[in-house]
Amino acid sequence: MRPRRLRRTPSIRALVRETVVRPNDLILPLFFADFLDEPRPIRTMPGVSQLPVSHAAEQARQAAQLGLGGVLLFGLPKHKDARGESGADPNGPVPRAIRAMKDAVPGLLVMADVCVDEYTDHGHCGVLKAQPDGSMDVDNDATLDILARISLAYAAAGADIIAPSDMMDGRVGIIRGALDGGGFEGTSILSYAVKYASAFYGPFREAADCAPKFGDRASYQMDPGNSREALREARLDEEEGADMLMVKPALPYLDILAKVREATQLPLGAYNVSGEYAMLKAAAAAGMIDENRAVLELLTSIRRAGADFILTYHATDAAKLLG
Ligand code: PBG
Repeated sequence: MRPRRLRRTPSIRALVRETVVRPNDLILPLFFADFLDEPRPIRTMPGVSQLPVSHAAEQARQAAQLGLGGVLLFGLPKHKDARGESGADPNGPVPRAIRAMKDAVPGLLVMADVCVDEYTDHGHCGVLKAQPDGSMDVDNDATLDILARISLAYAAAGADIIAPSDMMDGRVGIIRGALDGGGFEGTSILSYAVKYASAFYGPFREAADCAPKFGDRASYQMDPGNSREALREARLDEEEGADMLMVKPALPYLDILAKVREATQLPLGAYNVSGEYAMLKAAAAAGMIDENRAVLELLTSIRRAGADFILTYHATDAAKLLG
């Protein structure tokens, strides 16, 4: 037996390759700010900027021209408060960007991340409540209402897919009910079902200006040591009506991705997060790694582990490499 026969030439390797990445598998996250006139580069994410809403149409045309699977929008509002009310503003940065993108390219798939952390002055993913011991923690059930109203604002603006990233229990069911009640039964939910409390979100918190002002997210995001719990989270969100599931981060959790892939028939995404992007960019800038090869290899590995689609800041570069 000589397995090397099937590696001899590019054409044989192409024929027997089990996993491929297409531009259509990639979703580009974008940050739209209410208060900018010019793009503002994000120091910790070379090549990524916060964008004025006036750039949304151009971004939509670029994404479509590259053949990307879609975009995922985050918003940076002018005003923040304790509850994150500006998230539900129909004229907030995300609804305005959605409308501009859909006007420019009606067929572009537009996803909107739903969470209050970009809209709260304390940076947590929910409404806070004093605990019996005097500490503050996120009040799960008190957060569901604002999440539902943000989802409605995004759906009304034309988002195809609502993507809740907050990790509150029960939010998928509440959001599904709100969307159906508002006449948006055709709007899908992509649940960040399996989301770990990860150091790899560090750069994102500068990008979305949402670092918690105290404490961390460990009381709502998952413990990195847990894997059975991932299947439980995935099952609950499926039962509540999620159309698609996501695992996040991607690279340190490929084992989780593979397990969730076996456990569900729903389409499954993986989020190649800001810290994963920053590490690769830093190594490439230091001349330590071949960026283009590394990007295609890591995207392939995420697909091979079981992701149907990948949310990644490399989307634009990778689509160009894939031709
Ligand atoms: C929360 C949210 C986060 C990310 C996406 N949605 C940050 C967090 O949970 O702390 C992280 C994405 C990334 O790191 O690229 N709204």
